[in-house]
Amino acid sequence: MSEQSESEVPFTPVGPADMLKPGESAIIEIEDDSIVLVHLLDGYFAIENRCSHDDGPLGQGRLVGYEIDCPRHGAKFDVRDGAAKSLPAFRPVASFPVRHNEETDEIEIQYKKPEPPGFEDPRGFNFNFT
Ligand code: FES
Repeated sequence: MSEQSESEVPFTPVGPADMLKPGESAIIEIEDDSIVLVHLLDGYFAIENRCSHDDGPLGQGRLVGYEIDCPRHGAKFDVRDGAAKSLPAFRPVASFPVRHNEETDEIEIQYKKPEPPGFEDPRGFNFNFT
């Protein structure tokens, strides 16, 4: 099986350019996976809708600035790159490039199925059970 390079991953249209006002978010389904789409003043951002701590639904979290918090135990993630910003999560969630297609006036997400999570120990003893 060959890996798809980033440039080969297609963009998937998810809705019209004005589908969300700045500060709003929506949960989008692509390939049976759930993605949080966020519109901020400087553009749209997309991350997976599954907290890296214990699978909490990030799309139901509160958005403050660039951070969305997990409604289950309160971990925060940066919607720009999926970085974990506070415990109890320490692993990032997947983030996906988003673009505005000028020709169709639609928002498109470059969705690529995230790698299954391995176990990442904050002390540096890392394992991958895949
Ligand atoms: S499931 Fe998200 S912080 Fe625990």
